[in-house]
Amino acid sequence: MRKLRVGLVGTGMIGKLHADAIGRIPGIELVAITESNKDLLEAQKNYFRVNAYSDYKEMIAAENLDVLHNCTPNVFHYEINKYALENGIHVYSEKPLAITVEQGEELTQLAKAKGLANGVNFNYRNNAMVQDMRVRMQKKDAGRCLLIHGHYVQDWLMYDTDFNWRLETKDGGESRALADIGSHWFDTVQTITGKKVESVYAHNFIAHPIRKKVSGDKTEDFKVETEDGGLIIFRLEDGTQGSLVVSQVSAGYKNQLLVSVDCEKYSMRWNQEQSDRLVIGTRENGLAEIFASADVLDPSVSRYATLPSGHPVGWADAFANGFKEFYRSIFNGDYKNEVTYSNFENATYIMKVVEACLKSSKIGAWVDVE
Ligand SMILES: NC(=O)c1ccc[n+]([C@@H]2O[C@H](COP(=O)([O-])OP(=O)(O)OC[C@H]3O[C@@H](n4cnc5c(N)ncnc54)[C@H](O)[C@@H]3O)[C@@H](O)[C@H]2O)c1
Repeated sequence: MRKLRVGLVGTGMIGKLHADAIGRIPGIELVAITESNKDLLEAQKNYFRVNAYSDYKEMIAAENLDVLHNCTPNVFHYEINKYALENGIHVYSEKPLAITVEQGEELTQLAKAKGLANGVNFNYRNNAMVQDMRVRMQKKDAGRCLLIHGHYVQDWLMYDTDFNWRLETKDGGESRALADIGSHWFDTVQTITGKKVESVYAHNFIAHPIRKKVSGDKTEDFKVETEDGGLIIFRLEDGTQGSLVVSQVSAGYKNQLLVSVDCEKYSMRWNQEQSDRLVIGTRENGLAEIFASADVLDPSVSRYATLPSGHPVGWADAFANGFKEFYRSIFNGDYKNEVTYSNFENATYIMKVVEACLKSSKIGAWVDVE
């Protein structure tokens, strides 16, 4: 049986991890990469030992690809995803799907019209314990949900000398912290509850209105227009209420996505920095930890705990789980039905949630996600 031919565009921080995860999936093969940075292109070509291009259109013309992974900065997602779909190639894109909701809707329609698989890498939903929470909610095991709360906090932009392409609206889009990490949190909560975020009230903040941008041996002041974080309260479609703190300037917090779902019988708390465990809280016994392993999970999701009991599953395992789900849907041909990973339609909805947060923060009022 022939292996699916996979091409990868953008081999920076996340692109390299895509390549690693692709290597963990049977039945597929990374055959080519595209990278616009010449030095990196040379290094990655030697590392991955695949064909290498500086232009994704050349790669698509030459490589007879089945699937394209898009790991470029946000501004390139729309044009590359669109070009791949137009050329009959399944797409697994990094988030956000595009820069504007209109672009997201267009890509969703195009993927449907072409009958192609379309995934967006909201990877946190593919953790074993997130899936465990989802099943518990679906079975109403914990009773009615009373409150959802949590945060997604990082510190990599805490100094005014920290800089990255995400700060430039032309490369990252109008939203930064919310589009970059708040989006992951909302996708995780929607996955756990099976309910959409319906309405938001957001207060976004810019901790450093002016940052130092270094280009060559020059340092210039850069006026920041995107949020360093936000304080958000929200309502799900079933009326469940919740709150979220997003920050990229919180010292010591590296990549802490934490969500607590507090229900009538018990609460469930999950922190992605200790992703192999779920904390269950009861009034009688306080907090207790459950460790991810196939034998404690519901049989419908035991595949997400890919290591034997006592061998902690982590970030890279959940990341690869998402790829497995995506490729399984291609092998089975059922990607046109409901899928377990985020498809373009879901990713467009998440963009709408982020857009509603930006609007709410601007006008100081609740905004419905439309
Ligand atoms: N799902 C996740 O957990 C996660 C984590 C990090 C980043 N991301 C997403 O991945 C994307 C990339 O982020 P990153 O942190 O890897 O950025 P990065 O800057 O480390 O890497 C981007 C790479 O793309 C290359 N590139 C830029 N334009 C290109 C083009 N037109 N063709 C080919 N290559 C091009 C750059 O040279 C760079 O090597 C972003 O959209 C980000 O939101 C997702």
